[in-house]
Amino acid sequence: MLLRAIGSTDVGVVEQFAPLASRRDPTKYCLGWGRPGDLGVVAMEGTTTVGAAWTRLFAEASPPAEPDIPELAIAVYAEHRGRGAGRALLDRLFVLLAAGGHACVDLSVASDNTAARGLYDRVGFVEVERAADGRLWMRRRVI
Ligand SMILES: CC(C)(COP(=O)(O)OP(=O)(O)OC[C@H]1O[C@@H](n2cnc3c(N)ncnc32)[C@H](O)[C@@H]1OP(=O)(O)O)[C@@H](O)C(=O)NCCC(=O)NCCS
Repeated sequence: MLLRAIGSTDVGVVEQFAPLASRRDPTKYCLGWGRPGDLGVVAMEGTTTVGAAWTRLFAEASPPAEPDIPELAIAVYAEHRGRGAGRALLDRLFVLLAAGGHACVDLSVASDNTAARGLYDRVGFVEVERAADGRLWMRRRVI
């Protein structure tokens, strides 16, 4: 599997994966891609795009989100899941975030999303807050 950074002009990649990564609000994670703070990684197998993980900063973030902590989105196509792509994407993204001087990364996940929660637990995200609707806010240090 080949991993490469998602460039600031690579809006097609995030538009492709945003609806999988967030059924609730895909445009949040792709609209206007390439603004300061946008950072991501795409996984390829040969010429096939397998999955992507990326982060964005949201100036209007309200607690538990914070404007200076990037928020993560990730998706791997169903036929490529369970083979380490998600883990590899996150490991590379953490390196990019640390190199960019970010101390932490956050995410929001539905409590019944077993696969995503398994991945996030595996890579060391911890629960910050559980909302009334059952969504979890999670955080991981990268530095
Ligand atoms: C979440 C997702 C990105 C995981 O990608 P993946 O490539 O299948 O994950 P990996 O193969 O790298 O698995 C890494 C770890 O995650 C956990 N995991 C993965 N799939 C799991 C599942 N179905 N159930 C429980 N744990 C799971 C395991 O701990 C696994 O490590 P292990 O294989 O050593 O036990 C993928 O399922 C996906 O795209 N889901 C739909 C989009 C989505 O829900 N995004 C997150 C929204 S918050």
